[in-house]
Amino acid sequence: MQQLIRGRVLDFHADPAETGDNHRFLEDGAILIEDGRILAVDDHARLARPDLPEIDHRPHLILPGFIDTHIHFPQAQVVASWGAQLLDWLNTYTFPEEGRFNQQGHASAMADAFLNLLTDHGTTTAVAFCSVHPESVEALFSAAHARNMAMIAGKVMMDRNAPPQVLDTPQQGYDGSKALIARWHGKGRQRYAITPRFAITSSPEQMAATGQLAREHPDCHIQTHLSENLDEIAFTLSLYPQARDYLDIYETHGLLSEKLLLGHAIHLRDREIARMAETGSRAVFCPTSNLFLGSGLFDEAGLRAAGITCGIATDIGGGTSYSMLQTLNEGYKILQLRGQKLDPLAAFHWVTRGNAMALGMADRIGTLQPGSDADLVVLDVRATPAMALRAERIRSLAEELFILQIMGDDRAVAQTYVAGAPMKGRG
Ligand code: GUN
Ligand code: ZN
Repeated sequence: MQQLIRGRVLDFHADPAETGDNHRFLEDGAILIEDGRILAVDDHARLARPDLPEIDHRPHLILPGFIDTHIHFPQAQVVASWGAQLLDWLNTYTFPEEGRFNQQGHASAMADAFLNLLTDHGTTTAVAFCSVHPESVEALFSAAHARNMAMIAGKVMMDRNAPPQVLDTPQQGYDGSKALIARWHGKGRQRYAITPRFAITSSPEQMAATGQLAREHPDCHIQTHLSENLDEIAFTLSLYPQARDYLDIYETHGLLSEKLLLGHAIHLRDREIARMAETGSRAVFCPTSNLFLGSGLFDEAGLRAAGITCGIATDIGGGTSYSMLQTLNEGYKILQLRGQKLDPLAAFHWVTRGNAMALGMADRIGTLQPGSDADLVVLDVRATPAMALRAERIRSLAEELFILQIMGDDRAVAQTYVAGAPMKGRG
């Protein structure tokens, strides 16, 4: 069945940070949808037909759904844990919490709650770390598959420097990942990410196993963490004394490629930046987390100038909000502290097409091109009294976007569509 979704439609075909001809905006636009795909986008008058069911979202904006390129599914109940930086935060709060995800009932209940939170905040695709337990991956993929929602996720591999209830072994990490890839990678909209947590929690033997998985499954993403915190870096280098630098550990085990997503990537050496650029490895900026854990200030302009493609993400539960709008808000402030600017068009490009490009998926998500998946977010710039008052003085689309970027959160998300189906208030 075809349906028409009407509103003020915005999407991007290029990066506003690189070129002036970068977006399409239709003041009275419409998106024609059939079977979860976009058939056409145009002025409403050109697409409307008497027989076509229509949902009118005017005066709200309609964009491609937000993409979150780094989030931890088992950390929904870790958010807002007080007083620690990375390593203490992991040991005190995070590892014990992840230990609960060996129970299928808990994992399934959390998966439903987690996906509801994502879509309530306008996020339609996420790249998620699960816990070490295959049950947690099973729960997340099952819930996402039932919603026809594109998830990229994987079981963390970790075999040391954590409590026993969240450890596997090199063999269990390999076998467990392999079985989950066979079961879920490419099933509907689900994709598997090979997930060594970070070098501290993987022995050289386990690192070698992740390299073998990467060679055997070159179309799977790989997600891990890099150079988030100075104590983390020192500990990592003490565990791998042969390594030239932190990235070298991942490099030696064959993980560097356009499929590799490196969370944080804050405190980098020149060699690491050069190798990331040469191999196409991605850096993922996690603003609310970097501020909350006191990790440091990401150098977006520096990495861009080096030719590195960067994603942006929440990093729940080191991060403090599921909202990609709040993520952009904090990202703007971090870049201010570095003397860099995140302009609103570039910001909304980043959380849609930019993140899709970082994932190599821009033909299907982060876009409204015909043939792509009908994942949409509907944004209301007058969602709160303070926003409505500020909105009285809007003079341009960029200004409207910037109010959403700085003041917006889930209250500004009027609706979210996943493969053409409305997710908010579906009860
Ligand atoms: N490094 C290794 N694991 C984690 C995690 O769960 N969160 C963050 N922020 N950094 C990590
Ligand atoms: Zn993380």
